[in-house]
Parts: sequence; C-alpha cells; structure tokens
Amino acid sequence: MKMWSGRFREPLNQEFERWQRSFPFDQRLLLQELEASSAHARALRKAGVLTAEEQDAVLVGLAAIGKEFTLPIVDEEAEDVHHFVEKQLVARIGDTGKKLHTGRSRNEQIATDLRLYVRDACDQLNACIIEFVSVLLDRAEKAGGAAMPSYTHLQRAEPVLVAHWLLAYCEMFLRDVSRIRDCRVRLNQCPLGSGAIAGATLALDRHAMAAELSFDAPCANSMDATSDRDFAIEFVQAASILGVHLSRWAEEFILFSTQEYGFVRLPESYSTGSSAMPQKQNPDALELIRGKCGRLAGAAQQMLITMKGLPLAYNKDLQETQEPVFEVAETAKMMVKVAAGFMREVDFKYDTMQRAAETGFMNAMAAATYLTRKGVPFRNAHEIVAGAVRIAMQLGCELGALPLATLREIGPEFADDFYGAVSLQSVIDCHAAFGGTATHCVKQAIASTRQRVRAVTEEW
Ligand code: ARG
Repeated sequence: MKMWSGRFREPLNQEFERWQRSFPFDQRLLLQELEASSAHARALRKAGVLTAEEQDAVLVGLAAIGKEFTLPIVDEEAEDVHHFVEKQLVARIGDTGKKLHTGRSRNEQIATDLRLYVRDACDQLNACIIEFVSVLLDRAEKAGGAAMPSYTHLQRAEPVLVAHWLLAYCEMFLRDVSRIRDCRVRLNQCPLGSGAIAGATLALDRHAMAAELSFDAPCANSMDATSDRDFAIEFVQAASILGVHLSRWAEEFILFSTQEYGFVRLPESYSTGSSAMPQKQNPDALELIRGKCGRLAGAAQQMLITMKGLPLAYNKDLQETQEPVFEVAETAKMMVKVAAGFMREVDFKYDTMQRAAETGFMNAMAAATYLTRKGVPFRNAHEIVAGAVRIAMQLGCELGALPLATLREIGPEFADDFYGAVSLQSVIDCHAAFGGTATHCVKQAIASTRQRVRAVTEEW
C-alpha cells in the first residue's frame, strides 16, 4: 500500500514503480530518519496531537526499529526509508503509528535526514584526515635532518628536508579539514517543521526540534529548506578537493617508489604482486587512491547538474542527490584511511634521497646567493654560476668540487667560504625565511602544525 495511493485509480506501472523507489539506497538514512521522527513525535505531543502515552508508544516503537535492523535491509514494498519506518511503526504499535505523519511531509524529512547524514560524514571524514595528518607529522619528525631533492617541472630544483616535503601535505589536508568544517557550520540548520513547501500547519516548536537534533537553528524559509541541497554539494566538492590532494600525494609516492627514483620502499601490506611477472611489487593502494579521485570529482559534477534548473521547491530530481553523497562519504573515508595506513608503514630510503639531494647542481641558486652577499648583482651572479655549472658538467663534477682557481677565473669574488656555502646543510639552512626548508624553520613548523591539529581536535 502506497502512502499516497488514495488519489489514484490505476496502479503504477510495475517497472516504473520499482525504478522510482529509493529504499535500496536511502535505507542508509534509517538512523537519521528515526532520530528526526522522534523529534517530530515530541513536537506533536507539545502541539497536542499526540497524548503522552501515544508519544511514548511512538518513541518506543521507533527505538525498537533502530535496534532490530542492520543494513542491508530487503523490503520489496518500501518505497523509501520514510515509508519503511512508517510501515514498521504501524506494524508494531498499530493506528497510533499512523498519527506520526501528522503535520509533516517527506520533503522536510529527506532534507533533514540528509543533513544529519552529511553532518556525521563531515565529522567522520575530518577525524580520519586529522589522523592522517598526525601520521604525516610523526613521519616528518622521524625524518629529522634527512634531505631530498625537490622538483619544479619534475626537474630537480633545490634540496629540501624530507620533513618539509611532508609538511606541504599537512597544509593541504588541514585546508581540507577546514573546508569540511565550514560545510558543517553552514549545514547545521534544521528543515523539520517546513512541511511540504509552505511551512507546517501545526504549532510545531521548530526551535525545540532543531535543538533536539543538535542543529543550531531551524531553517529560516520553508521553501528553501525543503529544496536546498547546497550542503550536499559543498560536502561533495570539499571531498573532491581532498581527493585531488590524495591523488597528488599518491602519485608522488608512486613515482618515488619506482627504481628510477628509489626514494621509498613500498610496504608489502599495501602492495600487490603480478600474476604474470614474478618480480613485481605494485603500488595498488596508491593507484586506487589516485583512481578513486575520479569518483569524487564525478559526484561533484553530478550534483551540480542534478540541481541546475530545478524550480522551487521539492522535485523528485532531488532524490538523485543522495547516492553521490553516500558514495563520496564512503569512498573518501576509505581513501584517507588507506593513505594513513600506508603512510605509517612506508619506508624512506634516506641514503638514496640524500645522494640525489647532493647532485644535479641543486646548490646553484645558493651559489648565486653567495655571490650576491659579496656584492654581485643577482643577474650577474646567475650568469657567473651558470658558467661554473657548465665547467663542472664538462669536468663531470659538482660545483663544490671545482678548484678555487677555476672559479676565480669567472668570478673574482669567489673565496674559500664558497665551499661551506654550497654544502647541502647550508643550502638547506639558507632558506630561512618563514615557511622555508631551513632546519630551524621546519622544526618550528612541525611544532606549530601539531598545535593546529590539537586546536582543531579540541574545537570539535
Ligand atoms: N524518497 C524521496 C526523496 O528522496 C522522499 C521525498 C518524497 N517526496 C515527494 N513529494 N515525493 O526525495
């Protein structure tokens, strides 16, 4: 029996009937539906629609439904999660169950359930990201003074501390945390009591319902409340930026695990072998993280296109906004969890990184800076050092191995202290402005990042 069949004389086309049902996926909202329904039941009692006994029967019934079912639930009749709960309630407490729908609409229910779901998804995802950032920080701390090359255009650029490189990812992921929190702040208003479109017809205490569900306030406009899915779009978009960060992180580790780089050793617990090539160890965890980024970005696109062009207020198209949200919430969480697990176990080959950091003339910019400290204008210094690089390439050595006499021929300002200035340690430490890779800057950065992580965790 449909919730709305009274008006109809003909049954639904069977294929269409099955196709339009959302219960196969919106059953994920069961707990949210029960919570929101309990809040509505209390409001009905206050409005004098339910007696105290009826309210209690409804609340007990709803709680029992929550206890009885674990997902997935197969119910060939249930049109959606709202229908399912109503049927279950009536089966348990009889006609009183039928009173629960007084003064409300599924339009406000789904809007409320989905907000509750996204709110919880924001919290869960952020907890996972924070855990991941903590692992990155642990690894940065353990890396100590280890150096590696950094790249621009994927060509060796300047040496940096391994810790500095890892901290770059902490920044990205902490921005994700903040974006997801922003989304949570804006979504935290309660649609309950908005009715189908024009507002509730009963004196429902919307503020009390909002407070009961830990919303900051009731949504201000019933038409907006029942048709808004901005919160879902924001969540999916924030998650897709997170996906981009994870994908870039994964890509770097994939590159660095190749024999060509040899900077990291893949943990066996996050790799697989090849059924054909016995020698292989493949970075599947990383590749899946990179690959699943596509789902998140796709979902963000899907949401926008679904919403575009919808007149106010509720339209059934809105049902299509649920699955991308579920997909993103589940996928993004696992991506971050796997990334954190990988990060905990991956081995850094510090020797190879260090060797790479010492070669390839990555101290050339520091060499030019050295000359500017002797009064040479930077443009000239750049040219002089380029000449030195050319000579070193011919001799097959690094800048620091050129004899002083040779250097002086192209720049009389070169002196003994040049060799110290282009050593790996000084090259790293000369990037001492805030945010740079100098050892003391990185030490401070680790401490202040930890502090920020602590602060966001506490604010929760
Ligand atoms: N399953 C529906 C959805 O997810 C619930 C709202 C139905 N409302 C309606 N007027 N048909 O959107």
